[in-house]
Order: sequence, then C-alpha cells, then structure tokens
Amino acid sequence: MIELQHTTKTHDESRQGEALDMLPTGKSTGRKLYIESYGCQMNFSDSEIVASILLDNGFETTKDYKEADVVFINTCSIRENAEQRVRNRLKEFESVKAKNPGMVVGVLGCMAERLKSKFLEEEKLVDVVVGPDAYRDLPNLIDKVDDGNKAVNVLLSREETYADISPVRLNSNGISAFISIMRGCDNMCSFCVVPFTRGRERSRDCHSIVKEAQDLFNAGYREVTLLGQNVDSYKYTKPATEGETPAPPVNFAQLLAMVAEVSPELRVRFSTSHPKDITDEVLHTMARYENICKYIHLPVQSGNSRVLELMNRTYDREWYMDRVNAIRRIIPTCGISTDVITGFCTETEEEHQETLSMMDYVKYDFAYMFAYSERPGTLAAKRYEDDVPEDVKKRRLTEVVNKQQEHSLYRLQNFVGNVQKVLIEGFSKRSDQDYCGRNDQNTMVVFPVDERFKPGQYVHVLAERCTSATLIGRIVD
Ligand code: SAH
Ligand code: SF4
Ligand code: F3S
Repeated sequence: MIELQHTTKTHDESRQGEALDMLPTGKSTGRKLYIESYGCQMNFSDSEIVASILLDNGFETTKDYKEADVVFINTCSIRENAEQRVRNRLKEFESVKAKNPGMVVGVLGCMAERLKSKFLEEEKLVDVVVGPDAYRDLPNLIDKVDDGNKAVNVLLSREETYADISPVRLNSNGISAFISIMRGCDNMCSFCVVPFTRGRERSRDCHSIVKEAQDLFNAGYREVTLLGQNVDSYKYTKPATEGETPAPPVNFAQLLAMVAEVSPELRVRFSTSHPKDITDEVLHTMARYENICKYIHLPVQSGNSRVLELMNRTYDREWYMDRVNAIRRIIPTCGISTDVITGFCTETEEEHQETLSMMDYVKYDFAYMFAYSERPGTLAAKRYEDDVPEDVKKRRLTEVVNKQQEHSLYRLQNFVGNVQKVLIEGFSKRSDQDYCGRNDQNTMVVFPVDERFKPGQYVHVLAERCTSATLIGRIVD
C-alpha cells in the first residue's frame, strides 16, 4: 500500500486507475475491455491479472469505457465511503449502457465478495459479480452473459494465488511494479472486512515470485514492491514429491533475500508488515542488502492497549514500541509509516491521547489516517457498539492528521542538506524540466533533468529544500 507519499489522502478508496490500450495475446475477438480499480494495491495488482486473462482470451483493453464491450470495476469494501464511491461510479455507467445494451458490466473484488448475488438485485445494470479468487472463470462468465444470463462466481479458494499468470502491467511507468506474494488474511482484526472478502491466507510459490522479479528486471524495471496483507507471515512450503525429502518452508526474510539477489540494481520494497509478526530476522535481512529499501509500513491503528485488544490486533502499546526500537537499532536510517483509526468503539479521550503520544514517540514519516467505519459482519459490528459520535471521530482524526503533518515535515527537513540515492521514475508531474523519483525511505524527490541520466537509473541528489510532501534538490553525481 505504498502510494501518494506525504499527503494526508487515504490510500485506498481514493485510488482509481484505468487500463492502457493493449492488444490481445490470444486470437483476437475484437472485443474491448475497460477496467477501473479502487482500493488497495492488491486490487490494482489483481486488475493486472484480470487483464492478462482476458487478453489471452482475445480481448484488447481500452482507456475509454464508452467504447468498451466489457466494463469491469474492481471494488473495495474497507470503509463505507469506499463502497459509496463505487455505487456512484456505477450510476455513471448507466447512461452508456442504455445506449449500448450489449455492454457487459461486471463488479469484481471485495464488494463483489461481500455482497455476492445481492449486487444483481441492488444494481440492475450489473451483469457479472466475481470475487477475488474466481478470475480464471471470467471468460466463461462473460459467455454466460452473452447468452442472456446474469453470472456470479464468488467462491473463495484456499489455494488460488494466480502464480502462473503473468500480469499485464497497466498504467505502469516501466520502472516500478507490484508483485503479489500472498493472498487473503488469517488475522481477525475486529474492525476489518478483508478476511471475509479475501478469504484465508495463502502464500505464493517463491520461485514464481523470483521469476516474476527477474522478468521485470530483464524488461527494464528497477523496483518491485512485494504485496500482502501481512507479509511477515509469508510461508511457502513446496509440495513434497514422492521419494524426495520435503524442502523446508521459505519465510518472508528468506524470500526478501531471494528477491534482493535478483540484482543489486533492483530495489525491493514490501507492504504491509504486521507489528505482531515482524521479526528481527527480517530487519537483519533488510540491513544486509543495500537494495532492500529502508522503509517499513507498520500500521499501529491505536496507541492504547485496551483499544488494541478490542481491535484484536494481538499486540499492545509496549510490544509495538519494542518493534519500533528494534527497527531503529538494527536499521537506524529506516523510514516508518503507519495506519491509524480514530474513534473505534468505546475509545475514550485519554485513549485517543495515547495514539497521539505514540505518534510523538515514533515520529512517523507518513501515515494513512481514518475515522472508524463500522463494516457489516465484522467482529466489532457484532460485539461492540459504534458509540463514538461522528463529530468526535472526525475531530480526533483532525488532531491525528495535524500531528502527522508536523512529523512528516520534521522527517523531510531532516533529509535537507543530505545526499539521497534516488531511482529516477520519470518527469515530475508539474514540469518536464524536472525528474522525480524516491529515496530509500520512499520520499518523493524532484530535481532538474540532466541529459546524462534517464528514468530507471540511480542518481545522487542533494536535497536543498522541501515542501510538505517533497524534497527538492539537484543531482550531484
Ligand atoms: N493488512 C493491513 C491493513 C489493510 S486495510 C494491516 O493489517 O495493517 C488498510 C487500513 O485500513 C487498515 O490498516 C486500517 O487502518 C484501515 N481500516 C480497515 N478497516 C477499517 C474500518 N472499518 N474503519 C476505518 N479504517 C479501517
Ligand atoms: Fe484486516 Fe487485520 Fe488482516 Fe490487516 S491484518 S487485512 S487489518 S484483518
Ligand atoms: Fe479494499 Fe479489499 Fe483492499 S476491502 S483495501 S480492496 S483487500
């Protein structure tokens, strides 16, 4: 979930992407697919798998939903407003479908999984509802719709990792890519809908992950982000073949090292780490490889132990601080970011103050911050009353956001005057006279174009000043 650095925008439901124009890899049917994604990076990554499956089935992709034969929306359920945004978007598709009744409209992802066939009743224009583990069935489901039926497949799987499917890189800068290393989640954080929408945790074959990283590197990519809801519990055991002794399982620290070995020129990032599972072994592996970026997203959610217990996070304030201390000890330059929820059930003013004091303790480089949104079916919805008034949740959120702005600025100012190693990603958003790229700690750095260097190359940049979100400097190589 690494995105939109140093803004206070939320990372999930605000994100939106489109497919680029791509031609089919199989026999062309001339049919056009449009796919739009919401939610976390896992969803964006899944859309690349969906595109790959349909390109293999003769589709091409389009950036314009008005000319598409199949319109997919890959959805997020994490908070109520994420779902609302999708419903609003579906309304916009309505007029286009009225003009083109043959157009197939599909809902994919977490909302599809949560609402299942109810979606077809609630939103009449939807023809297909497909959960995150059923994407291989898409060509078949589209056929069903072509035959005049509605189609639903929301089966969750204990095995599916799409390991053999080579994702089509959508909206890519050709430099950075995401690799899903696991799916699902076995934690039961009481506020969270993900275990219900994504199913049981399973880890993808480590060899297919390394191969994907190698293929990306060969294609010119220079940064991969390994994705999972809880990467520290990654564990892959190769199925034993007859007559052979079974191989020992590969854990996350070992996987990180395997990917880092692809090339010292390939940067490796990962997200998300769970405070209960992040090990010193992972931290030592990060310290050992220069190309594993010194940046950890370690969601705290709350700084108070009683609230953490109600959240079922299975760590307390002291444990979290101990993990932060370990990071600072083993990787002194490491950037740390977090997620915070304000106004969780029964949270008192004093407990909220403990979240603020935790923020003071860590001084996060960056944070995603949310007001608690009750999700149907979760443990919290069943067990606890959503009793913090909306205005109190929002006021606490504002306090958290303001504090984070101070800390983000503090972290940025600490970089000023220092030389940063930056991977050039391309031209800056504002001007083609400037390049942009990130430093090790994932902070965006902007600097004047130097013809000797191209996107995909590393440069050393002296940070001369900063805005609230960006370092500004010049190349000193
Ligand atoms: N697997 C990651 C989080 C995935 S969801 C982890 O365990 O850290 C991303 C973030 O959304 C969470 O960290 C949490 O801060 C927020 N979130 C999840 N459910 C929420 C809810 N019901 N209300 C508000 N924020 C929520
Ligand atoms: Fe949700 Fe918790 Fe799993 Fe993260 S670890 S996806 S917050 S249940
Ligand atoms: Fe949203 Fe599903 Fe991701 S609920 S945050 S898209 S796993």
